[in-house]
Formats: sequence, structure tokens, C-alpha cells
Amino acid sequence: MLSPIPAKTSLQSADSPIGLLDSGLGGLSVAREIRRLLPQESLLMVADSAWAPYGDKSPEQIRERCEKISDWLIEQDCKAIVIACNTATAAAASYLRECYSLPIVGMEPAVKPAAAATKNGIVGVMATTGTLASARFAALLGKFASETKVITQPCPGLVELIEAGDIAGSRTLLENLLAPLRTASVDTLVLGCTHYPLIKAQVSDVMGSAVQIIDTGEAVARQLARRLQDGQLASNHSLPQLSLHTSGNQALAQRLAPDWLGEPVEVSRLPPQFKLNHQSATQPE
Ligand code: DGL
Repeated sequence: MLSPIPAKTSLQSADSPIGLLDSGLGGLSVAREIRRLLPQESLLMVADSAWAPYGDKSPEQIRERCEKISDWLIEQDCKAIVIACNTATAAAASYLRECYSLPIVGMEPAVKPAAAATKNGIVGVMATTGTLASARFAALLGKFASETKVITQPCPGLVELIEAGDIAGSRTLLENLLAPLRTASVDTLVLGCTHYPLIKAQVSDVMGSAVQIIDTGEAVARQLARRLQDGQLASNHSLPQLSLHTSGNQALAQRLAPDWLGEPVEVSRLPPQFKLNHQSATQPE
């Protein structure tokens, strides 16, 4: 059962960390943009890898899980939460904003910039089944892409390969998934899931270098910066802290995360209450 509204809050001091959550290691593609723009901010990241993928779960399941993770982030004294996951934003952002009084920054596939950037008027969107099926995504298309031909491509199985660090193994799947987008001659491709920027080079290789590839990480970092300024929550730490907490395989995350974040990061396990309690794990321990 989802808990009833009113507002849970943290102490919200400027020195507190920013909490960031994703179904897994995809959040690192957003975290590295935040690190670039806001290097003085501490980041406490959650990779819910034991529970990935979110893309095939129901909105209710995702809301419940995100609330549990957000409660924990607030217990750790986070001053703001970044939902570094398109799927979780579509399912849970509005609900979480009703539950909590701290700033919550979500994300959505970059349809607006893609519609502005396309030259031939044909845009591809790779995203999870959940994101593409959401009312939020339908509204996004209606608002920004009424003049654009948008070819959507769900990518089942791709997040699991990325979570396993099997980048070479993703090549054949990518070729199959991207074939309809190549046939449709898209000239602009939106990476509508935070895991996909981690394999941007492979996507570009399959699509060809003439196709421009757009994601939302940098825009999220900019929005976060605005929200922190507006709330007088911007930090000027000289020694910000970085940490990643996983519900999945700690050793695997420790091997993959520093490369994807672009700097060293200590990986810990989330507390036991985050152990798998729904469906299948991609990273059994
Ligand atoms: N990284 C997530 C997103 O941005 C979800 C991937 C998944 O768990 O299905 O949509």
C-alpha cells in the first residue's frame, strides 16, 4: 500500500548531499553531468540493481519502490532528490512531489531538443517499455513533436546487459533494436533511458556518425542547479563526498562504476530492507 500524503522532509542544509536514484547503474550517466556542473556538491547515489529493470514493472510497483528509496535518502539527510531514471520519473515523480517537501528533479526523454534539432523531421526514441507506455510520454509527444515523425523503440534486454557490464554482448541486440530506426532514416536519436548513454559509442557505431544522439543528463544537472539556487541550498564544499549504494552485486558495481562516473567512487551495499522482494534479479549474489 502506498502511504498517504503529507509531506516528509529533511533538514535541508546546504552542506547535505544530493540524493540520486536509478533502477541501477544508469544513474551514473546523470551523476557525471552533475559532477561536471556542480563539482562542489556531495552526491549520495542509489543503484537499485537487484530490482532492475524497472522498465517492465508496473507504475504502482515503481512508485512504492521509489518511495522506499527516497525515505532512505532523506534519512541520510539529503537536501534534494534527483530521479535519474526516465521510467521512474514517468511512474513516480508526481507522487513523490506530493509526498516530500524537498526539491525533486526528474527527467524525460529529450523529445523537445530532438524535434528542434532534426533536419529531416524524423526522430527516433529509444526508451524502456514503461516510459514509452506512460501518459507522460504521450503528453510530451503531443506538446513538442506534433510536426515531427517520431519512431519509438522499446529496448527489452538492453538494460540487463549493461547492468552485467556486457557491453560487447549488447552489440547484436543493438543491431536488431536499431534496425527499424535506420530503415526509417532517423537523423536524430534520443537516448530515453539513463543506461543508454553508457553505451553511446556503440549506439553511434550502429546508427552511423551522421545521426545525432541526444540525452537528458546535462539538462537535469542544469535544472538541479536552478532548484538549489532557488532554495538557497547550493553548497560550497571544498571536499564533497561521493558514494554509491547498491541493492545488487557490490563487487560488480565497484568494477563498473568508476569508469562510468569518470572518477573513483566507493560502492557500499544498501541496508537489508532493500533486498529483492519482487520479481527476478539480474544480479544475484
Ligand atoms: N535507467 C532507467 C531509465 O532511465 C530504467 C532502466 C530500467 O530499469 O528499465 O529509464
